[in-house]
This record gives sequence, C-alpha cells and structure tokens, in this order.
Amino acid sequence: MNNQSFRRKIHDLIPGGAHTYSKGDDQFPSNAPAAIAYGKGAHVWDVEGNKYLDCGMGLTSVSLGHAYEPVLQKVIDQLYKGINFQRPATIEMEMAEKFLSLVPQHQMIKFAKNGSTVTTAAVKLARAYTGRKLVAFPAEHPFYSYDDWFIGKTACNKGVPDEISALTVTFNACNIDSLRALFEKYPGQIACVITEPEKITCDETCACHGKPGEFLKQAISLSHEQGAVFILDEMVTGFKTDLPGSMKKFGIEPDLATWGKGIANGFSFCALTGKREIMELGGIRNVGAEKVFLISTTHGAETHSLAAGIATIDEFLTKNVISHNQKIGEDLIAAANETIASHALNEYVQVLAGNWMPVFMFRDAEKNVSAAYRTLAMQEMIRRGILFQGVFVPCFSHSAEDIHQFITAFSESLEVYKAALQQGVAGYLSGEIVKPVFRRFL
Ligand SMILES: Cc1ncc(COP(=O)(O)O)c(C=O)c1O
Repeated sequence: MNNQSFRRKIHDLIPGGAHTYSKGDDQFPSNAPAAIAYGKGAHVWDVEGNKYLDCGMGLTSVSLGHAYEPVLQKVIDQLYKGINFQRPATIEMEMAEKFLSLVPQHQMIKFAKNGSTVTTAAVKLARAYTGRKLVAFPAEHPFYSYDDWFIGKTACNKGVPDEISALTVTFNACNIDSLRALFEKYPGQIACVITEPEKITCDETCACHGKPGEFLKQAISLSHEQGAVFILDEMVTGFKTDLPGSMKKFGIEPDLATWGKGIANGFSFCALTGKREIMELGGIRNVGAEKVFLISTTHGAETHSLAAGIATIDEFLTKNVISHNQKIGEDLIAAANETIASHALNEYVQVLAGNWMPVFMFRDAEKNVSAAYRTLAMQEMIRRGILFQGVFVPCFSHSAEDIHQFITAFSESLEVYKAALQQGVAGYLSGEIVKPVFRRFL
C-alpha cells in the first residue's frame, strides 16, 4: 500500500478518513503522509517507509515519545493481569490517589477515554449543582467537546437542534468585562464558565495583556459571586505548562478541572477532577438524594490505560520532564527566530513564544495571516522530513539534534517562502490549501 492508494481507499471506509477532523486530509498539504505505520520516540514512519520528525505528537497527547519503553512495560505487565472486570479494578484506586496527589485543590476524580466525555460531564455536573441551564465559554477558543452543547455553537452545527445551541453562550476570551456583561445579560441563568487557562496567544495583544492568571482569578471570583461553577479545561495545558498544569502555575482553584492529552503518553486516559461537594453529586452514597448520571461507560477505567497514566506520571515526577520539554521549546523558539531574521522575514513569519508549545504564524505579501502560506510552509517542511502543521509540541524524546534538523529544514523552506512572496504562492503549491476544521460547507 502506498500513500496515494491509502488516501483513496480510507474515505470509502471511514467518514472523514480519520477519527478526529484535525487528522483529516484537508488539514495537510498534498505531499503529507496519508497514514502513519508506526512511531518511535520523536519520529514516525509512513506507509511507504518514509521517516519524519514528529512535531504534533498525536494532537499533543504523546508527551514522552512514541512507543516509550517505561510506559509500554507497565502497560504490558497490566495486560497480563486483565483489562476489564465486572467490579472496579484495584488500579482505579491507585490512579485516583496518584492523580489527586498532583491536584491538591480537588478531592475526587472520574476517569474517561476521551476529553469530550470529561468536559461534557463537567458541564452536566455544573447544571445539576446549580439547577441552571446555560453554559458559557470563550468565543475565540477552538474546541471543548464534540458534544452538542459545544458543536451547536460552531459554524459546523448541522444535526444540533437550535434549542440546544441556545443553551450555550459566549464571552470574549480573557476579557473580564465581557464575562461580567454576560452574567448581567443572563442573571441567575449561567450554570458554569468553562475555559482553557491560557493560550500561546496570551501575550500583550491579548485581552489579559499577557497575564492569563490574573484574568482567571477574577473570572473565578466573578463566577462564584454569580453562583456559577468554574471549570478549567487543562486538556492541552495539562502536563505542559506545569505539573499538573496551569492551575499550579497560577495558584488558582477552579471548582472542576478536565484533563486528557499528554497525561498517559497518548493512551486513552482522561480525567475530571473537582471539589467533593460537586463531584459527590455523581456518587451513590447520599441515599434519598436525586441521582446524577455522571460518566458511566464500559471502557472508562480500562486498566492498561490507567497503568500508562501511572507510568507517565512517574516519569514526569522522577525525570523532570516539564523542564526538558520547555527547554526544547525555548531552544526551538530562539533558533527559529534567528533563522527568520537571517532571511529578513520577520514581518511574514512569526513564532509565538510559549515554551510549552511554540506556534508559528504565516503571513502573505500583504502581511495577513494566510492559510495558503501555512500550507506552503507545511509542504516544504514535509518535503524535508519534518511532519509539521505550524505547531511544535515538545516531548521528552525530542533532542537538540532534532531541533537542528528542524531548523535546517526550516531555513531551506523559508527560501521557498521568500520566492513565493515575490512571485505568488499559487505557483509553489503542489495541491489544495488547507481548510478550517469548523466550516459550514465542505
Ligand atoms: C481544550 C480541549 N478540550 C477538550 C478537547 C476534547 O478532547 P477529545 O478530542 O479527547 O475528546 C480538546 C481536543 O482537542 C481540546 O483541545
């Protein structure tokens, strides 16, 4: 099987050809590998045996590296003990204690296989706790769940009844006045505010003026004053900005928090943590109280994913993984900025300087952010063996040598970029321009 035939066949079998739209063909240039056959450390190999340096690391979920031995060993040991039983597995308590030891603000935890499951569970708990219906999230943020409460508010809301979409309301990210105005518009109706703690774009140009922690403190107080639950979604920031995440970095106490990518090195383990008073609503001890049907799934506590999570936490604790990963991010940013300057492209290519996940911006000749130029940059990097989508997600297996390889390819790609700026990008693209995931029409 080669890349072309894989690409042709997969869409006949799987709608979208992948299991998140972010991995779809329309998100990559035409020369991207159609599928990954296997990965090891910071590298992946496609169906034709071509090797790539991986920059995306499984949508940021692989924090240590592909097929990372110490995690695999724990998983293998667990597989031999069985993975799903008729009663809870003993490893569930071990994981609960281990994860909560990282989150002293919270006393209880529920596991799940997907991030969307835990964000949706947090929303449900908040509605049950407050008796209110509305959910608020920042309009600029890209994704919180594939469930109706979130997707109903995007451009891609076909299949979601308007009545459901109307129960979600938005405010401007990192803008406390906007959140205050929302509470004033819907007095006593907002059950919860859900937000990611910080984005790479949280610099001086953001409404928080580079201080997302200050916004979060104000937003938590405001939510509490207004009787709403505050949910922090650490799906992306968890195990990247700090250990366990931005909650610790900013010293804040959300009522509930959601975790996923990165916490089990790519294995399917996600978690909802929270204050006992709210989480206990999903319990069965308060006889006589109304039951809240919280997360209840057959595979939610599959033991080998919990073993992967425990092994990942142990690696983070004993090997100071956060420092390694952030140093990789810092070195990459410095080297990329030098390269951009050496090509005199500062006004066209920028790196947003968050050491936990550097993001690249690509602009056209008029200096507008451009999907066509991003496609060109990806195409040229892929041509040189770098599987790059405009974001570099540092992992424990990335090394100084990998940064060197990235920068060599980046420098050569910028030569092409510069020529395209002068002569027009269309002549340099070998296929279609990448498209936004959230669009109304295909
Ligand atoms: C901030 C955030 N929350 C929730 C999710 C949902 O996670 P999952 O894809 O595991 O359902 C994502 C996924 O991209 C995310 O980025």
